[in-house]
Amino acid sequence: MVCLGNICRSPLAHGILESECERLNLNWEVDSAGTSSWHNGELADSRSIEVAKKNGLDITNQRSRQITKSDLEIFDLIIAMDNQNYKDILAMSENDIQKDKIKILLNYNFPNENRAVPDPYYSGGFDYVFNLIKQSIDKLIEKER
Ligand code: 4NP
Repeated sequence: MVCLGNICRSPLAHGILESECERLNLNWEVDSAGTSSWHNGELADSRSIEVAKKNGLDITNQRSRQITKSDLEIFDLIIAMDNQNYKDILAMSENDIQKDKIKILLNYNFPNENRAVPDPYYSGGFDYVFNLIKQSIDKLIEKER
């Protein structure tokens, strides 16, 4: 799960997918990262921690990190929160196998529309973002399991 800072959107996506995998007994390794290193080592944004908690998830074990080229090798799916994330990850890829792993999260809900999970860092809307991510992750699991 990848966004820009790995403190607002992708930590929620990470926490939601991890908890759904546990609930559904899916043996998936879930992680998240940012395309930037701006918040390396930091906890998720307090507003993400709060909305996660409100929805029964504890994401305080997560720390921000920047995506690396080896992530594109190790993971089967690389899920971008918005189009800029998608482009930035695509620019890191080194072959077609890696390119094909990179998806835009909301396309699981709204196929081929390339919609973005809005960045709530400045504008807020963490409840909306949480619900949007949750709905797409349900579809992702249906499609990829
Ligand atoms: P995220 O949100 O990409 O969902 O983690 C952001 C977090 C930090 C910044 C931008 C977006 N920032 O400019 O520091």
